[in-house]
Amino acid sequence: TRIVCVAGARPNYMKIKPVMDALERRGADVILVHTGQHYDESMNDVFFLDLGIRTPDRYLGAGSGSHAQQTGRVMAAFEPLLDELAPDAVVVVGDINSTLACALVTAKAGPLLAHVEAGLRSRDWSMPEEVNRVATDRVSDYLLAPSPDAAANLRAEGYREDQIHVVGNVMIDTLLANLDRARQSDVLDRHGLTRGGYGLVTLHRPANVDDPGALRGLLKALGEIAGRCPLLLPVHPRAADRLAALGVPDGIRLVPAAGYLDFIALQDAARLVLTDSGGVQEETTALGVPCVTLRENTERPITIEEGTNVLAGTDPDRIVDTVDQVLDAPPAPRCPALWDGRAGERIAAVLLDGGTARTRPRPT
Ligand code: UD1
Repeated sequence: TRIVCVAGARPNYMKIKPVMDALERRGADVILVHTGQHYDESMNDVFFLDLGIRTPDRYLGAGSGSHAQQTGRVMAAFEPLLDELAPDAVVVVGDINSTLACALVTAKAGPLLAHVEAGLRSRDWSMPEEVNRVATDRVSDYLLAPSPDAAANLRAEGYREDQIHVVGNVMIDTLLANLDRARQSDVLDRHGLTRGGYGLVTLHRPANVDDPGALRGLLKALGEIAGRCPLLLPVHPRAADRLAALGVPDGIRLVPAAGYLDFIALQDAARLVLTDSGGVQEETTALGVPCVTLRENTERPITIEEGTNVLAGTDPDRIVDTVDQVLDAPPAPRCPALWDGRAGERIAAVLLDGGTARTRPRPT
């Protein structure tokens, strides 16, 4: 069985790795395609090294650009490749532009399409990722959901029961497989930090960093929080110029984007994490570290219901109040069911043990 696995940007790499490994353990012929959506060393090479992912078998070099340019370039490059490789199935993960681009091409070309992380919904159509999630699910044969709430979203949208599989969370497979190695990292020493002595911040969502007014408000809140708990902010390339232009308040230290193992170590030892990322909400939940999400909504409500996540929105006063509450009474950790390190195996079983999930006849 030949299966093409697609990865394109930083949050894809830790999701595709356990799927590739589980498929290969069961004898599948796995071809890794990198779309090139992310290309900086700090966003790519470090992750491939840290995670032990092999050099991609094919590289599409799509690069940055507007949504249409990025999506279009991936589609145009992926179509002939799919024709050449003629796989039985294609696996896409997450919700980035590369995910949707390769899903659309696959749906018209004929191989079965599997979406890992299906069914997550923020219901916020201003997020490009929400468009990517909904549209990718719509053309997928196998909908591989990380949690029951995601499966419930899919049922409510009318998907067939035989398409929906609750398989657990692949991101947590990778976290658990690497936690011991991450704890050996010297990143705390390098930054002069002690366990429990700092807060970790990530910001990269367009709604937060592209609008100077929004970013200024967030920095004001972070400045107040830093008076109580010093903050470390590894900078995403998207936010670098704007943060430099606005300047950051005292008590917030900017450092370059961290590699995978270092970033897990930084989360694991943090007193709290402030983020607008999706994956970080999940990783902090699995680690039992308090997380304050700087967004008005989340497509990962299970991290609030069962995990350590609290939604603070983007209003500066509300963020400061929420952080005060979380520091005074940290939420009790409880890791969701099936976030147990075996999601990749369950996905391989669904794909290789035969499913009847085909939604479209194979073109002749
Ligand atoms: C993308 C994903 C987002 C994910 C994030 C993780 C979409 C719609 N968004 O957002 O869901 O959470 O990746 O990082 O797919 N840049 C570099 N080097 C790189 C990549 C990007 O400098 O290797 C800069 C460029 O200026 C680029 C900007 O970052 O224009 C944004 O990159 P892009 O891939 O468009 O989106 P992200 O914000 O990274």
